[in-house]
Amino acid sequence: MMSREQAITLIRSKVPNRNLINHMIAVGAIMETLASRFQQDPGKWMLTGILHDIDLGETDDPAVHGKLGASWLKEMGMDRDICDAVTAHAGHGTCDTPLSKALIAADQLSGLVVACALVKDRKLDNVTPDTVLKRFKEKRFAAGADRNKIMSCSDLDLTLREFVEISLDAMKTIAPEIGL
Ligand SMILES: [Fe+2]
Repeated sequence: MMSREQAITLIRSKVPNRNLINHMIAVGAIMETLASRFQQDPGKWMLTGILHDIDLGETDDPAVHGKLGASWLKEMGMDRDICDAVTAHAGHGTCDTPLSKALIAADQLSGLVVACALVKDRKLDNVTPDTVLKRFKEKRFAAGADRNKIMSCSDLDLTLREFVEISLDAMKTIAPEIGL
């Protein structure tokens, strides 16, 4: 399987936007930690997170995003369930596996957590689970972070607080790497 370094080199070659790269690395960290929690494959879940927006340097067309990325990953020989999760996270098909459910929820929560850090001196260390939970309720704060998709953590038998705690801890481990 592709290593973390290989995956990051790959997305850097495809996606010019550094914020997007940081987003993908953040989702990868959350996914890796979630996999451990659910006795799944941490390497595979991390890769799914890191690669999930790989096509955004090429297209931001909602009709294409996700499908294009998944087709590239398929050509590279990535596992079918990774490709399916990448397709499904962009709204094509249903998120019916733990991997795809985790991806769609982690994708949105990472955005909310980053927004929380940006208003706390750009430091994740200044963000607590309570900060995130409070901001979650403020619909206009980081409005792009889809609260319903974040709440789909309940499909994984996680409470919102558990999901936030796990994700925040995961993101803190890579904070310097993503400039937070
Ligand atoms: Fe994303």
